[in-house]
Amino acid sequence: MELLINSAFLVSAIGFILGLKLMGKPSQAKLGNSIAALGMIIAIATTAFMVIGGAPKITNIIFLFSALTAGTLIGRYMAFNAEMTGMPQLVSLFNAFGGASAVLISINEAVIQTEQTPLINFLLVVGAVLGGMSFTGSIIAYFKLEKNVNISNLKLIKFLSLFIFVIIIVSLLMYFSVRFNGLSFLIFICAMSMLSLIYGVVFTIPIGGADMPVLVSFLNAITGVATAFSGLAFNSPIMLIGGILVGATGVFLTFQMCSAMNRSLRVVLAGKIKSAGSSSSSEMEIQTITPVETASLLAFSNKIAIIPGYGMAVAQAQQACFELQKNLMAKGASVTYIIHPVAGRMPGHMNVLLAEAKVEYHMIKDMDEVNDTMEQFDICIVIGANDVVNPAAEDDPESVIYGMPIIKAYLSNQVIVMKRGMAAGYSGAENPLLGRQNCKLLFGDAKESLSRILDEIKRI
Ligand code: TAP
Repeated sequence: MELLINSAFLVSAIGFILGLKLMGKPSQAKLGNSIAALGMIIAIATTAFMVIGGAPKITNIIFLFSALTAGTLIGRYMAFNAEMTGMPQLVSLFNAFGGASAVLISINEAVIQTEQTPLINFLLVVGAVLGGMSFTGSIIAYFKLEKNVNISNLKLIKFLSLFIFVIIIVSLLMYFSVRFNGLSFLIFICAMSMLSLIYGVVFTIPIGGADMPVLVSFLNAITGVATAFSGLAFNSPIMLIGGILVGATGVFLTFQMCSAMNRSLRVVLAGKIKSAGSSSSSEMEIQTITPVETASLLAFSNKIAIIPGYGMAVAQAQQACFELQKNLMAKGASVTYIIHPVAGRMPGHMNVLLAEAKVEYHMIKDMDEVNDTMEQFDICIVIGANDVVNPAAEDDPESVIYGMPIIKAYLSNQVIVMKRGMAAGYSGAENPLLGRQNCKLLFGDAKESLSRILDEIKRI
């Protein structure tokens, strides 16, 4: 029986690793996701089998299946009803559930097993602390992504955050070296969990604006590490492997995003926030363009770049964009999509939308692949992107996004920016590109503008 259980866990671990490997390539990502999900189903089914086999009481079975059914229904409802624009929020909420689970299983173990070795107790309490922090941190991240958190007095919150962090570390050291006489492990783990729940809130609140993607990925990594600690405590290889994979990928993604925004993790987590920038849109002289004029410019261009951003997701303009691309190519133009690593509101946001519209993968280039050759483009069409093409990141040291690598759209012959008004992007920084000589603004919802351009292109 043990061999069967271990083999099932081995298969699910292989599923996780293979799934992750396949997710590295857009063309295989769906398959990778399905394989990893199958691995998880096998792991859950095997665990359920072990629970029933270990304690075949009817109450346990009812609890188990009620929890599995509730989790499946809630997860399905949330995933099916999430808007593409709300994906980061969904990731935050799922991550919060992961963190909450880590706290609950650690406390539960402390309740049912009062006599544990100090090492197991240590693993349990660290798992609970990391899980608690990740739980409340992810909930706050959710509200911040929804832009529902408005806090003043950040200095006090940062001080509180440091204070609680020190208390947690000192308490851990003292409990496991000096031991508090008479303090039961259950009370200790509950107190530490409570502190970590508060810490998650005060740690997350000061981090904001353009650093949100890094925070979500960081919290994801924390949940992974919490799970790995629990895996060690419960002697569960599958929890350990799953936790290490989530932790490691979360850490990689966190550092990748930090480098894409040219921010160090230390600066991000310290919640260092600059003001939104020095230039004001009212000082800028902008030039506008109509869909008809845009269509004729495009029809006579050879090399065209399309730079999508968050606004494309809001407008759900990816299909219209693909139609335009096909029509332009039919007229002999070469079209390249250029994607910034943090365009949109989640890693790979633009890739997912373009894949959904059936844009071929080879037409999509990363910013780094084309930035050196941007002057070769006759036109860059910027569809609902703002921060990722904002030259203030290169030449305005006062700007909140100074130092963030950008797509150098301003180097192309002509830039056309599609947006609805003069609103800033996510970072709140003003965008001097909009006032440049070679830049024209096409105002309106991106999907509508693209359809009108398309109608005109078909007529030319
Ligand atoms: P943003 O800088 O946020 O700019 C989006 C632009 O789209 C806005 O200027 C908005 O202007 C326009 N827009 C909105 N709805 C539109 C519509 N229906 N039609 C046309 N335009 C529309 O987007 P970005 O350039 O993609 O940059 C992403 C930003 O989000 C970065 O600062 C990044 O750090 C941050 N962020 C990224 C992530 C990840 S992981 N990708 C997660 C969280 C945050 P109007 O309102 O005037 O139309």
